Amino acid sequence: MSLDAVSAAELIAWYAEMGVTEALDETPHDHFAAAPEPTRPPVARPQIAAQQPARRPVAVAAATPPDEAALSARALARDAATLEELKTALAGFEGCPLKATAKNLVFADGNPAGKVMIVGEAPGADEDRIGLPFVGRSGQLLDRMLAAIGLTRQEHVYIANLLPWRPPGNRTPTPQEVAICLPFIQRQIELADPDILVCIGGPSAQGLLGVSGILASRGRWMEYDTGRRMIRAIATLHPAYLLRQPLQKRLAWRDLRAIRAALDAF
Ligand code: URA
Repeated sequence: MSLDAVSAAELIAWYAEMGVTEALDETPHDHFAAAPEPTRPPVARPQIAAQQPARRPVAVAAATPPDEAALSARALARDAATLEELKTALAGFEGCPLKATAKNLVFADGNPAGKVMIVGEAPGADEDRIGLPFVGRSGQLLDRMLAAIGLTRQEHVYIANLLPWRPPGNRTPTPQEVAICLPFIQRQIELADPDILVCIGGPSAQGLLGVSGILASRGRWMEYDTGRRMIRAIATLHPAYLLRQPLQKRLAWRDLRAIRAALDAF
């Protein structure tokens, strides 16, 4: 089919309106296939760096066996002694296919020495463009929610995501992608060493706290083992959900008050 310039522009505008914002591949991929089974020995860091170029086409990156990718992630994360080293390790990691379609690594924002660490799901379009978590509409709501309990990201809160790369078209991350990236966020929590972990949204709560059903699990204090010590953890509703369901803000407000009370008790 050949299109003149005006029709092509109209078609692209229509795609954008329908939410089709990524051009990926001619053939579909089953991203849910083959959950990782971490049974093989870790892949050494120098080998990966030497064998894999910095940016790879989607099809090649997706072909990295998920179990090798998860094991390699674990080894890289374990070897990082500081948050800066962890960021560098993530930037060089080629095992997650999301990296190939993302514009930027979205590692963290806020104060790593803050008492509260917030972990969201994954970057959206704005975060991907800017390279920082929660800078779009949901981020602005998150900042207002934090301000309501006297917290700012500059001073009191460290913010990251379960996944540091944007899933194309903001789709939900696959279990495989989560499993591959999990060692990095777990190590990031360990290195930041917050007193309180706040998981925002279902995937973060499920990935880090092992709970499913965010409406049922939100607002309950749990224990999270950072590897160094046990800390308090709580799941709450995602601001993107609250933007769609403003009446649910009352539940989020309860969670925020619980976080404030826990901080005041330290
Ligand atoms: N939603 C998230 O979960 N994280 C972000 O960084 C932005 C939106």
